[in-house]
Amino acid sequence: MTEKTSNLALKALTEWWGEMGVEADPAAIKAYLSVASTGSAAPPAPSLPQGEAAAPRPTRAETDWVAEARKAAAACQTLEDLSAAIAAFDGCDLKAGCQNTVVFDGVVGAPIMVIGEGPGADEDRIGKPFVGRAGKLLDRMLGSIGISRQTNALITNVNYWRPPGNRNPEAGELAVCRPFVDRMVELTAPKLVIAAGGVPAKALLETGTGIMRLRGTEKPFTTPDGTSRPLFPVLHPAFLLRRPQEKSRAWRDLQVIEHRMRDLGVSL
Ligand code: URA
Repeated sequence: MTEKTSNLALKALTEWWGEMGVEADPAAIKAYLSVASTGSAAPPAPSLPQGEAAAPRPTRAETDWVAEARKAAAACQTLEDLSAAIAAFDGCDLKAGCQNTVVFDGVVGAPIMVIGEGPGADEDRIGKPFVGRAGKLLDRMLGSIGISRQTNALITNVNYWRPPGNRNPEAGELAVCRPFVDRMVELTAPKLVIAAGGVPAKALLETGTGIMRLRGTEKPFTTPDGTSRPLFPVLHPAFLLRRPQEKSRAWRDLQVIEHRMRDLGVSL
């Protein structure tokens, strides 16, 4: 066995044992392989841990990815940490089909947070939320009441990976992203949250009530640290592109938000 082959064998063997939940000393295995390759008398086999065998690691399918997401999110102390943790997270099956993990755009620590549904094709390509046609309309809607991602808003989504064919994210996909969404709100502490569309409104408020009944009304949004903030559901800009006759409703809802921002002392 050449040195290269023996290193490959060592790597494969330790990886295999690792997957089976067995911890073994790689140096001992290496010594064993090198003696085996020279044909000398076999040394004692590398020792495995004494006592109870280590519990096998759960497979990908057995892993509790919501618990993993909670652990990863809780460990983050800055938005930078959180963005890195989301990008490194492998618990959402959507990720495999995407070009980018889309986390946020805008001002870190802004008083307004806008939370949409999830990336579409343009967002997946560019890596930022709300950059396509719907995003341009969202910018105009927000701009009409003095909100912008350049000055006083941070924009994100309840799901960080584009669902195929732009379908709605499924419950399981939303559930694994949720700890990161909550942590982002905790870390950036906005004064007011806007949920853009029925999917984020229903997911964040954990309700089955539709957007037509939720829109334009203030709801408390409470994060796991116990902090509550006003949340306003609004019609999704993609819906308004399809149904421009609904824009007057959206305009009324934005005025309610503007009024509440003034109450909260948010500078425009
Ligand atoms: N629609 C959303 O809800 N979010 C985006 O980022 C883009 C389109």
